[in-house]
Amino acid sequence: MNLSISLGNLWLKNPIIIASGVFSIDSAPYFPLPDIGAVITKTITPLPREGNPSPRLWETTGGLMNSIGLQNVGLKRFIDEELPRYLELSLPIIVSISGEKEDDFPQMAEKLKDKGVSGLELNLSCPNVERGGMHFGKDAEVVKRIVREVKRASSLWVMPKLTPQAPDIVETAQAGREGGADAVSLVNTFLAMALDIKTRSSRLGTLMGGLSGPAIKPIALRMVYEVAKAVRIPVVGCGGIMTAEDALEFIIAGASAVELGTVCLLNPSVPSEILKGIKEFLREEHIGDIRQLIGSLKTSNNG
Ligand SMILES: Cc1cc2nc3c(=O)[nH]c(=O)nc-3n(C[C@H](O)[C@H](O)[C@H](O)COP(=O)(O)O)c2cc1C
Repeated sequence: MNLSISLGNLWLKNPIIIASGVFSIDSAPYFPLPDIGAVITKTITPLPREGNPSPRLWETTGGLMNSIGLQNVGLKRFIDEELPRYLELSLPIIVSISGEKEDDFPQMAEKLKDKGVSGLELNLSCPNVERGGMHFGKDAEVVKRIVREVKRASSLWVMPKLTPQAPDIVETAQAGREGGADAVSLVNTFLAMALDIKTRSSRLGTLMGGLSGPAIKPIALRMVYEVAKAVRIPVVGCGGIMTAEDALEFIIAGASAVELGTVCLLNPSVPSEILKGIKEFLREEHIGDIRQLIGSLKTSNNG
């Protein structure tokens, strides 16, 4: 049975990727690394960031809200101290990068280009300080420009991660492809709020946070379907995947691979269970190659 897939010229032994923000080099021993296709690092920014005030997590019905605020050690310390340890894990390492202005992305790519990483995921769900805080990923032209400049600055494999806050996520995905992206991933978290009625204030240290987990799955699935149908580069699906069945739904909708986020916080050994479930399904359905399942959705009865 073949479980390997290609995202452009990046080959993965299976379609299970750990999403940005839920894996760190110190939590690596808790994950079943041999069952994982690739790992995406937490988002790194040019300079260190302390992140947002606490509380940073709030559980909602069927979901999790976070406002971590991109806490990280900054690119220099990441390259010097963390990356060598990531590379010892002997699985593809995709580095998630972000910044405060467009130029930050190509400048970081330049510094990462010969460091042994397998590719870059561009976290575009962050405020662009040059544009009054509007998220990069909400403007298709900005997405195209950032991808193009990152490709120019490095020969690395590049995957913009789309925000569901974009007015038209298909348009942003197309802009990413026009900029030269090797794949697109979607979705990042949905901007959301939760309030404490007694104190009349946010449950989080910030007014708003990002919603993830099962609550967002049906919307993420619909977006993955629409993007995969319209864009001719591989799509990586993400959002509320908890089980093998969830992962298979994304693959059938058109995703070549899936990212697991929130579920890894509950149970880091879940990638093994999901991989096992995918294998069982392929066996039951007499499918010898997972690639046969990608985009196999039948829509003839639903228009
Ligand atoms: C605690 C936490 C931290 C996250 N940090 C990042 C991050 O640094 N960069 C990023 O691109 N996405 C980050 N995400 C978003 C996830 O990668 C993923 O896109 C989102 O949570 C939806 O998937 P899920 O429902 O499987 O969690 C974070 C999510 C959570 C729950």
